[in-house]
Amino acid sequence: ASRKFFVGGNWKMNGDRESIGSLVQVLNNGEFNPTETEVVVAPPMLYVGLVQQSLRPEIAVSVQTCHAAAKGAFTGEISPQMALDVGAQWAIIGHSERRNVFGESDALIAQKVKFALESGLKVMFCIGELLEQREAGLTSEVVIRQMEEVRNAISLAAWQNVVVAYEPVWAIGTGKTATPEQAQEVHHQLREWMAAQLSAELASVTRIIYGGSVNANNCRDLAKQEDIDGFLVGGASLKPDFITIINAQS
Ligand code: G3H
Repeated sequence: ASRKFFVGGNWKMNGDRESIGSLVQVLNNGEFNPTETEVVVAPPMLYVGLVQQSLRPEIAVSVQTCHAAAKGAFTGEISPQMALDVGAQWAIIGHSERRNVFGESDALIAQKVKFALESGLKVMFCIGELLEQREAGLTSEVVIRQMEEVRNAISLAAWQNVVVAYEPVWAIGTGKTATPEQAQEVHHQLREWMAAQLSAELASVTRIIYGGSVNANNCRDLAKQEDIDGFLVGGASLKPDFITIINAQS
């Protein structure tokens, strides 16, 4: 496919100045080809500026969430404008932990995606089904409903700044990865939905990445699948293994 391979590292709420400093060193010394692979890391909010200043310019920085307003009385939140101000270019929005631990609705997430894009951030938009939804045969229905909320909120042109991250909730942080076939099936359905609901062009150029217990051992087989254009990595993005994952396609 002509889509540039994309690997995101979501550090979640992990690290301190010392360990983050070491991780930046690993990233700065790691070998990869930035023309073949786009790499983005999402440190905890307080460290975003620090990481941006010390990280090599071939790796972009992301926030892990941001609010759907530029400023104001929203205690604890940060805005896309603040993220951009400290050098972040991306936001992860709709992560399953935001949805399921912090109770963010599809509608709120769609507003956040819309506002982040309008503000000039690029967005890793996360979707995925819970275990009981998969077991009930509802996977496609759930991920398509999550996509529809965003389709209804943003313009067609805005999709060029979106990477879709399919992360089955049962595979996140559990060590239970979706098989390459299971992930490919959903990625293919998402691409077909895009062709029908957005455009043939957007379906062919939009990166759909997989997340959920991706590691240095399983990344190559996943990367071989036609519709898997990269990864959103949690736990393994805190380790030197992340460099192996960045190179999964080469
Ligand atoms: O955003 C990343 C995903 O939640 C995956 O996390 O690689 O630790 O399973 P994990």
